This record gives sequence, structure tokens and C-alpha cells, in this order.
Amino acid sequence: MTKKIFSGVQPSGNLHLGNYIGAIKNFVDLQNQKGNQCVYCVVDLHAITLRQDPKILKENIRETTAAFLASGIDPKKSIIFNQSLVPAHAEGSWILGCVARMGWLNRMTQFKEKAGKDKEKASIGLYIYPILMTADILLYDATHVPVGEDQKQHLELSRDIAQKFNTDFKAPNFLQVPEPLIQKNFSRIMSLKDGTKKMSKSDPSDQSRINLTDTKDQILNKIKKAKTDESPMPDEIGKLEKRPEVENLLGIYSSLNNQNLEKSINEFSGKNFSSFKAVLADLVAENISPISQEIIKLLQNKDYIDKILKEGAEKADKQASQKINEIKKIIGF
Ligand code: TYM
Repeated sequence: MTKKIFSGVQPSGNLHLGNYIGAIKNFVDLQNQKGNQCVYCVVDLHAITLRQDPKILKENIRETTAAFLASGIDPKKSIIFNQSLVPAHAEGSWILGCVARMGWLNRMTQFKEKAGKDKEKASIGLYIYPILMTADILLYDATHVPVGEDQKQHLELSRDIAQKFNTDFKAPNFLQVPEPLIQKNFSRIMSLKDGTKKMSKSDPSDQSRINLTDTKDQILNKIKKAKTDESPMPDEIGKLEKRPEVENLLGIYSSLNNQNLEKSINEFSGKNFSSFKAVLADLVAENISPISQEIIKLLQNKDYIDKILKEGAEKADKQASQKINEIKKIIGF
């Protein structure tokens, strides 16, 4: 079966190892599986739900695109574009916003986290962003959406909106109900300083994350200083309970080595933390430094990046405008 893949990443700076392991690494794997049609979007409309400096936003759009390319997303195989170049995303979002229910959005935990205590001061865009995300996915008839764990609830909402549209307008199977693709053990990479907190671009401590633009030395140093605990390396999965930092580091190791957690535990059981950290640091550096070097190289040629985005947007627009026209017909415009 042909899988139609859609996913997006916000160009809001500080792309990190969590974005890579939870999302971008899988984008590349999916692209390279025969028969898949992949669309990968730099979601700039999403980024402005929080205030952005216009000059920095422009640079971040290019940097996120460069990170896609440097990680192995190939514009000859996948469509790469930025969302604001394709008007159907904003149009679709409005129409689907009239299908979605307030009660559904009120349940979104990410809004509660991002809006913080003072909800009244959050932008309306931040509140309705899962609807824009739904439009992104449904415009391309995506069957599968690779994301990290934090996007699971938004995808459930997308499924509900698609189903409600199909029912309300008596258009069975018109909007494809998408399946989330969430990696089993590695879909939530945690902070290097606190294993109970997600690795995040907005963490004030740079030591909490490996950025995709970090140098080899920065990577080695951050892993060396990553928080662990007093107990020895575990010899079975059960012993990871209540040891979130150790579980996280073993998860990173397993994901980058494409092996399961059990195998990694067996490799290091009985060894001391410093030897595990040394091997892990080398592995992370081996995977991330070539990407960071390539990002720097690509960013020297802004015209090239802009051209990739423009050409990708032309291809995306063909699909998205056809779908939005069908949607408009169905709802009576
Ligand atoms: P964003 O930009 O916050 O994150 C991009 C991707 O990275 C994943 N991710 C993580 N995975 C594991 N561990 C972490 N610590 C971690 N941090 C981030 C996210 O789950 C995501 O997959 N709304 C989305 C972008 C979006 C989208 C879409 C995704 C817009 N439209 C349509 C899929 C389909 C977001 O803000 O992701």
C-alpha cells in the first residue's frame, strides 16, 4: 500500500536531538521506504502563534529547511516547503475550525502548558493551532503522520475533525482519517538536566539539550555533564523504573544505534557510567556533528534553500489547492 506521509516542524529556533529522534530521523527512514509519498513542511504559520522577530523567523525558516536537507531529506524524493507559501493551509484551517468543537480544543494539554498561568494573554492562534495542524494533514490525504509523543493528542483531534466533517457533510471517506506514527520507546526525549522534563527548545538552559547546530566539543561536553544517579548501570528493563535520566540516555543510545532498549542494557550492564557516557557521547557526535556541519554549509547559500522551498511549494500547492476546492464544493461555496 502506498503510504502518504505528512509531517511538520516549527521554525522557532533551537532544533534539538528530541526533534531529530522523535521526528526528523523517521522522516528520512519513511522517505527511503519504497512506495511512500512524503510531504515535509516547515510550519511557519504555526511559529507565529508565539511572538517572533521577523528577521529571526526568516533565518529560522531557512535553518529548519537546512536541517531537513542535512539530515537526509531529499527534495527529489520528498516535497519540502514552508507552509505560508501555500494559501490552502490557512483557508482549510478556517473551514475546519467551523467543524471542530470548543470542548475538543479545551482538552488540549499542550495549550495549557504553553499558555501557562495567564491563559487570557495567550494568542487565539495558540489556542486554535491544532486545527491548523489538522488542515495541514488533511489537505494532502495523509495516511500516516510521524511525530513525537507530545503531538499524539493533536493527532487524535485531527482524526475527530476528519470524521465529523465526513459525517456532517455526508461525504463518507472524503477526508482521510490519519494514523499517527509514534516510535515506541524513543518518542519522548527528555532534558539532559532533568529526566522528568521533555527536551525542549524553550528550556532556558542550553545544557538541557543537544542542538542540531552544536559542535562536536559541545556535544561531548553536554553528554559528559548530563545528569545520572548513584546506582550502577541497570541489568534489566525493570530496573529503569524511577530512573528517568538513565532511561533517557539509554533510549538515545538505542535509537541512534537502531536497536532495542534490552540490547543496550545488556551491552552496558555492570559497567560504570563514565564508560557508557563516553560511548554515548561519541555516538551522538558521530550522528549530529555531520548534520550541524552541513547545516552551516547550506546556510551559506540562502538562494539554494529558498529555491528548494519555492519549488516544493509549487508541488504542494497543486495537491492542496485541488483538495481545498473539493472541500469548498462539498460545503456549498
Ligand atoms: P514541533 O515543531 O514542536 O516539533 C517537531 C517534531 O519534533 C517532535 N519533538 C520531540 N520528539 C521527541 N522528544 C522530544 N523532546 C521532542 N520535542 C519535539 C514533535 O513531536 C514533532 O513531531 N505542531 C507540530 C508541528 C506540526 C505538525 C503538523 C506535525 C504542524 N503541522 C502536521 C505533524 C503534522 C509542532 O509544533 O512540532
